[in-house]
Amino acid sequence: MQPKHWTLDDIPWDKFDPGKVRDDQLRIAKAAAMVEYNAADYVSYLENVFADDPDFTEAARSWGIEEVQHGEALSKWAALADPEFDFDTRFGEFRRGFKLDLDATDSVRGSRAGELIARCMVEVGTSSYYSALGDGTDEPVLRAVCRKIASDELRHYKLFYDHLKRYVARENLSTMRRVRVALSRIMETEDDELSYAYFAANANYSDGEEYDRKRHNGEYLCRAFAYYRDPHIDRGMAMIFKAVGLRPHTRLFHWVRSGAQWMMRRRQRQLARMAASAGAAA
Ligand SMILES: [Fe+2]
Ligand SMILES: [Fe+2]
Repeated sequence: MQPKHWTLDDIPWDKFDPGKVRDDQLRIAKAAAMVEYNAADYVSYLENVFADDPDFTEAARSWGIEEVQHGEALSKWAALADPEFDFDTRFGEFRRGFKLDLDATDSVRGSRAGELIARCMVEVGTSSYYSALGDGTDEPVLRAVCRKIASDELRHYKLFYDHLKRYVARENLSTMRRVRVALSRIMETEDDELSYAYFAANANYSDGEEYDRKRHNGEYLCRAFAYYRDPHIDRGMAMIFKAVGLRPHTRLFHWVRSGAQWMMRRRQRQLARMAASAGAAA
Protein backbone atom coordinates (compact mmCIF):
# COMPACT_ATOMS: atom_id res chain seq x y z
CA MET A 1 0.00 0.00 0.00
CA GLN A 2 1.26 3.50 -0.89
CA PRO A 3 2.32 5.66 2.09
CA LYS A 4 0.33 8.86 2.63
CA HIS A 5 1.96 12.03 1.28
CA TRP A 6 1.42 13.91 4.55
CA THR A 7 0.00 13.40 8.03
CA LEU A 8 -1.91 15.57 10.51
CA ASP A 9 1.46 16.38 12.15
CA ASP A 10 2.44 18.34 9.00
CA ILE A 11 -0.34 20.89 9.60
CA PRO A 12 0.74 24.02 11.58
CA TRP A 13 -2.11 23.76 14.12
CA ASP A 14 -0.38 26.27 16.44
CA LYS A 15 -0.92 28.99 13.81
CA PHE A 16 -4.71 28.77 14.26
CA ASP A 17 -6.25 32.25 14.39
CA PRO A 18 -9.83 32.22 15.79
CA GLY A 19 -10.34 35.83 14.69
CA LYS A 20 -10.04 34.79 11.02
CA VAL A 21 -12.67 32.01 11.14
CA ARG A 22 -15.71 32.76 9.02
CA ASP A 23 -19.00 31.09 9.84
CA ASP A 24 -19.72 30.11 6.22
CA GLN A 25 -16.30 28.45 5.90
CA LEU A 26 -16.79 26.61 9.19
CA ARG A 27 -20.15 25.26 8.02
CA ILE A 28 -18.89 23.96 4.68
CA ALA A 29 -15.70 22.53 6.25
CA LYS A 30 -17.86 20.53 8.70
CA ALA A 31 -19.97 19.19 5.80
CA ALA A 32 -16.86 18.29 3.74
CA ALA A 33 -15.40 16.44 6.75
CA MET A 34 -18.45 14.11 6.77
CA VAL A 35 -18.21 13.21 3.07
CA GLU A 36 -14.42 12.73 3.13
CA TYR A 37 -14.49 10.58 6.26
CA ASN A 38 -17.11 8.33 4.65
CA ALA A 39 -14.66 7.20 1.90
CA ALA A 40 -14.40 3.64 3.23
CA ASP A 41 -17.83 2.92 1.71
CA TYR A 42 -16.57 4.02 -1.71
CA VAL A 43 -13.53 1.79 -1.33
CA SER A 44 -15.85 -1.21 -0.72
CA TYR A 45 -17.89 -0.29 -3.79
CA LEU A 46 -14.75 0.04 -5.97
CA GLU A 47 -13.39 -3.27 -4.63
CA ASN A 48 -16.64 -4.92 -5.77
CA VAL A 49 -16.70 -3.30 -9.21
CA PHE A 50 -12.98 -3.97 -9.94
CA ALA A 51 -12.81 -7.29 -8.05
CA ASP A 52 -10.42 -9.00 -10.53
CA ASP A 53 -8.08 -6.01 -10.93
CA PRO A 54 -5.64 -6.15 -7.97
CA ASP A 55 -3.58 -3.18 -9.23
CA PHE A 56 -6.63 -0.99 -9.09
CA THR A 57 -8.12 -2.30 -5.82
CA GLU A 58 -4.75 -1.83 -4.10
CA ALA A 59 -4.62 1.77 -5.38
CA ALA A 60 -8.25 2.32 -4.31
CA ARG A 61 -7.44 1.25 -0.74
CA SER A 62 -4.55 3.77 -0.55
CA TRP A 63 -6.84 6.40 -2.06
CA GLY A 64 -9.49 5.73 0.61
CA ILE A 65 -6.96 6.14 3.43
CA GLU A 66 -6.03 9.58 2.09
CA GLU A 67 -9.68 10.61 1.76
CA VAL A 68 -10.38 9.57 5.36
CA GLN A 69 -7.41 11.70 6.44
CA HIS A 70 -9.01 14.67 4.66
CA GLY A 71 -12.04 14.15 6.89
CA GLU A 72 -9.82 13.95 9.98
CA ALA A 73 -7.95 17.17 9.11
CA LEU A 74 -11.15 19.11 8.37
CA SER A 75 -12.91 17.86 11.50
CA LYS A 76 -9.89 18.71 13.64
CA TRP A 77 -9.88 22.23 12.23
CA ALA A 78 -13.66 22.52 12.76
CA ALA A 79 -13.27 21.44 16.39
CA LEU A 80 -10.61 24.16 16.91
CA ALA A 81 -12.95 26.75 15.42
CA ASP A 82 -16.01 25.43 17.28
CA PRO A 83 -15.10 23.46 20.45
CA GLU A 84 -18.72 22.28 20.72
CA PHE A 85 -18.51 20.49 17.36
CA ASP A 86 -18.98 16.79 18.11
CA PHE A 87 -17.77 15.07 14.95
CA ASP A 88 -18.58 11.49 16.02
CA THR A 89 -22.23 12.27 16.82
CA ARG A 90 -22.66 14.34 13.67
CA PHE A 91 -21.01 11.69 11.51
CA GLY A 92 -23.29 9.03 13.03
CA GLU A 93 -26.25 11.20 12.03
CA PHE A 94 -24.88 11.50 8.47
CA ARG A 95 -24.40 7.71 8.20
CA ARG A 96 -27.96 7.12 9.41
CA GLY A 97 -29.45 9.31 6.68
CA PHE A 98 -27.14 8.66 3.72
CA LYS A 99 -26.30 5.19 2.43
CA LEU A 100 -24.51 3.95 -0.70
CA ASP A 101 -25.46 0.74 -2.51
CA LEU A 102 -22.53 -1.38 -1.32
CA ASP A 103 -23.85 -4.60 -2.88
CA ALA A 104 -23.34 -3.36 -6.46
CA THR A 105 -20.89 -5.50 -8.42
CA ASP A 106 -21.22 -3.54 -11.66
CA SER A 107 -20.52 0.15 -11.94
CA VAL A 108 -23.57 2.39 -11.74
CA ARG A 109 -21.91 4.23 -14.67
CA GLY A 110 -22.47 1.28 -17.04
CA SER A 111 -18.82 0.20 -17.41
CA ARG A 112 -15.48 0.32 -15.63
CA ALA A 113 -14.22 3.09 -17.91
CA GLY A 114 -17.41 5.00 -17.12
CA GLU A 115 -16.77 4.49 -13.41
CA LEU A 116 -13.23 5.85 -13.76
CA ILE A 117 -14.45 8.91 -15.70
CA ALA A 118 -16.93 9.55 -12.86
CA ARG A 119 -14.11 9.18 -10.30
CA CYS A 120 -12.01 11.67 -12.32
CA MET A 121 -14.94 14.13 -12.26
CA VAL A 122 -15.20 13.83 -8.47
CA GLU A 123 -11.48 14.59 -8.14
CA VAL A 124 -11.80 17.55 -10.54
CA GLY A 125 -14.56 18.83 -8.26
CA THR A 126 -12.66 18.30 -5.02
CA SER A 127 -9.29 19.62 -6.26
CA SER A 128 -10.89 22.82 -7.54
CA TYR A 129 -13.10 23.14 -4.45
CA TYR A 130 -10.26 22.93 -1.93
CA SER A 131 -8.09 25.21 -4.10
CA ALA A 132 -10.92 27.76 -4.15
CA LEU A 133 -11.58 27.49 -0.40
CA GLY A 134 -7.84 27.61 0.40
CA ASP A 135 -7.44 30.74 -1.74
CA GLY A 136 -10.56 32.28 -0.21
CA THR A 137 -9.78 31.90 3.48
CA ASP A 138 -7.58 34.14 5.65
CA GLU A 139 -7.38 31.56 8.43
CA PRO A 140 -3.82 30.12 8.18
CA VAL A 141 -4.59 26.56 9.35
CA LEU A 142 -7.63 26.12 7.10
CA ARG A 143 -5.54 27.44 4.20
CA ALA A 144 -2.79 24.90 4.94
CA VAL A 145 -5.31 22.03 5.29
CA CYS A 146 -7.03 22.97 2.01
CA ARG A 147 -3.71 23.16 0.13
CA LYS A 148 -2.59 19.75 1.37
CA ILE A 149 -5.97 18.25 0.45
CA ALA A 150 -6.08 19.95 -2.97
CA SER A 151 -2.67 18.47 -3.88
CA ASP A 152 -3.92 14.99 -2.88
CA GLU A 153 -7.07 15.44 -4.98
CA LEU A 154 -4.96 16.35 -7.99
CA ARG A 155 -2.90 13.18 -7.49
CA HIS A 156 -6.14 11.18 -7.15
CA TYR A 157 -7.31 12.55 -10.49
CA LYS A 158 -4.04 11.39 -12.09
CA LEU A 159 -4.40 7.98 -10.45
CA PHE A 160 -7.92 7.40 -11.82
CA TYR A 161 -6.93 8.89 -15.19
CA ASP A 162 -4.03 6.41 -15.54
CA HIS A 163 -6.35 3.46 -14.90
CA LEU A 164 -8.98 5.04 -17.17
CA LYS A 165 -6.55 4.92 -20.13
CA ARG A 166 -6.27 1.13 -19.74
CA TYR A 167 -10.04 0.63 -19.64
CA VAL A 168 -10.87 3.08 -22.43
CA ALA A 169 -8.59 1.07 -24.75
CA ARG A 170 -10.19 -2.19 -23.60
CA GLU A 171 -13.83 -1.05 -23.76
CA ASN A 172 -13.46 1.11 -26.88
CA LEU A 173 -15.54 3.88 -25.30
CA SER A 174 -16.38 6.70 -27.71
CA THR A 175 -15.68 10.35 -26.86
CA MET A 176 -19.43 11.05 -26.93
CA ARG A 177 -20.09 8.31 -24.37
CA ARG A 178 -17.27 9.65 -22.17
CA VAL A 179 -18.72 13.15 -22.37
CA ARG A 180 -22.16 11.83 -21.40
CA VAL A 181 -20.83 10.00 -18.30
CA ALA A 182 -18.78 13.05 -17.29
CA LEU A 183 -21.75 15.40 -17.63
CA SER A 184 -24.07 13.13 -15.66
CA ARG A 185 -21.55 12.95 -12.79
CA ILE A 186 -20.99 16.72 -12.84
CA MET A 187 -24.75 17.29 -12.57
CA GLU A 188 -24.77 15.15 -9.42
CA THR A 189 -22.56 17.74 -7.70
CA GLU A 190 -25.81 19.28 -6.58
CA ASP A 191 -27.16 15.95 -5.28
CA ASP A 192 -28.23 14.65 -1.89
CA GLU A 193 -24.88 13.59 -0.43
CA LEU A 194 -23.46 17.07 0.14
CA SER A 195 -26.81 18.57 1.10
CA TYR A 196 -27.38 15.87 3.68
CA ALA A 197 -23.79 16.20 4.96
CA TYR A 198 -24.38 19.94 5.35
CA PHE A 199 -27.56 19.26 7.30
CA ALA A 200 -26.02 16.53 9.52
CA ALA A 201 -22.96 18.67 10.28
CA ASN A 202 -24.80 21.90 11.05
CA ALA A 203 -28.42 21.14 12.03
CA ASN A 204 -29.82 22.52 15.23
CA TYR A 205 -31.24 19.20 16.45
CA SER A 206 -32.29 20.58 19.84
CA ASP A 207 -34.68 22.94 18.00
CA GLY A 208 -36.09 19.99 16.05
CA GLU A 209 -34.54 21.06 12.72
CA GLU A 210 -35.36 18.48 10.04
CA TYR A 211 -33.78 17.77 6.66
CA ASP A 212 -35.23 19.84 3.85
CA ARG A 213 -33.39 18.86 0.69
CA LYS A 214 -34.10 22.05 -1.25
CA ARG A 215 -33.27 24.40 1.62
CA HIS A 216 -30.13 22.62 2.84
CA ASN A 217 -28.93 22.14 -0.74
CA GLY A 218 -29.26 25.89 -1.35
CA GLU A 219 -27.59 26.75 1.97
CA TYR A 220 -24.67 24.47 1.15
CA LEU A 221 -24.21 25.54 -2.47
CA CYS A 222 -24.40 29.29 -1.90
CA ARG A 223 -21.53 29.00 0.59
CA ALA A 224 -19.45 26.47 -1.38
CA PHE A 225 -19.77 28.06 -4.84
CA ALA A 226 -18.97 31.56 -3.53
CA TYR A 227 -15.21 30.85 -3.52
CA TYR A 228 -14.83 29.79 -7.16
CA ARG A 229 -12.95 32.21 -9.40
CA ASP A 230 -12.14 31.96 -13.11
CA PRO A 231 -8.71 30.27 -12.66
CA HIS A 232 -10.34 27.46 -10.63
CA ILE A 233 -12.88 26.89 -13.41
CA ASP A 234 -10.10 27.04 -16.05
CA ARG A 235 -8.05 24.32 -14.40
CA GLY A 236 -11.10 22.15 -13.78
CA MET A 237 -12.24 22.43 -17.40
CA ALA A 238 -8.80 21.42 -18.71
CA MET A 239 -8.92 18.31 -16.47
CA ILE A 240 -12.45 17.45 -17.64
CA PHE A 241 -11.42 17.77 -21.31
CA LYS A 242 -8.44 15.47 -20.78
CA ALA A 243 -10.56 12.83 -18.99
CA VAL A 244 -13.11 12.64 -21.80
CA GLY A 245 -10.42 12.47 -24.51
CA LEU A 246 -10.70 16.03 -25.85
CA ARG A 247 -7.74 18.36 -26.28
CA PRO A 248 -7.57 21.53 -24.17
CA HIS A 249 -6.29 24.76 -25.76
CA THR A 250 -8.56 24.34 -28.76
CA ARG A 251 -11.33 26.67 -29.89
CA LEU A 252 -13.91 24.27 -28.44
CA PHE A 253 -12.10 24.37 -25.09
CA HIS A 254 -12.06 28.18 -24.96
CA TRP A 255 -15.74 28.31 -25.86
CA VAL A 256 -16.77 25.72 -23.23
CA ARG A 257 -14.53 27.29 -20.57
CA SER A 258 -16.06 30.75 -21.14
CA GLY A 259 -19.52 29.18 -20.93
CA ALA A 260 -18.64 27.43 -17.66
CA GLN A 261 -17.27 30.65 -16.15
CA TRP A 262 -20.42 32.51 -17.16
CA MET A 263 -22.65 29.74 -15.73
CA MET A 264 -20.75 29.72 -12.42
CA ARG A 265 -21.13 33.50 -12.01
CA ARG A 266 -24.82 33.26 -12.86
CA ARG A 267 -25.33 30.40 -10.36
CA GLN A 268 -23.43 32.35 -7.68
CA ARG A 269 -25.74 35.36 -8.15
CA GLN A 270 -28.85 33.15 -8.17
CA LEU A 271 -27.79 31.32 -4.96
CA ALA A 272 -26.91 34.63 -3.25
CA ARG A 273 -30.38 35.99 -4.11
CA MET A 274 -32.03 32.80 -2.78
CA ALA A 275 -29.99 33.05 0.45
CA ALA A 276 -30.91 36.72 0.88
CA SER A 277 -34.63 36.09 0.41
CA ALA A 278 -34.53 33.08 2.80
CA GLY A 279 -32.78 35.31 5.38
CA ALA A 280 -35.41 38.04 4.92
CA ALA A 281 -38.25 35.50 5.33
CA ALA A 282 -36.73 33.99 8.52
FE1 LIG B 1 -10.73 14.22 -0.43
FE1 LIG C 1 -9.72 12.62 -3.72
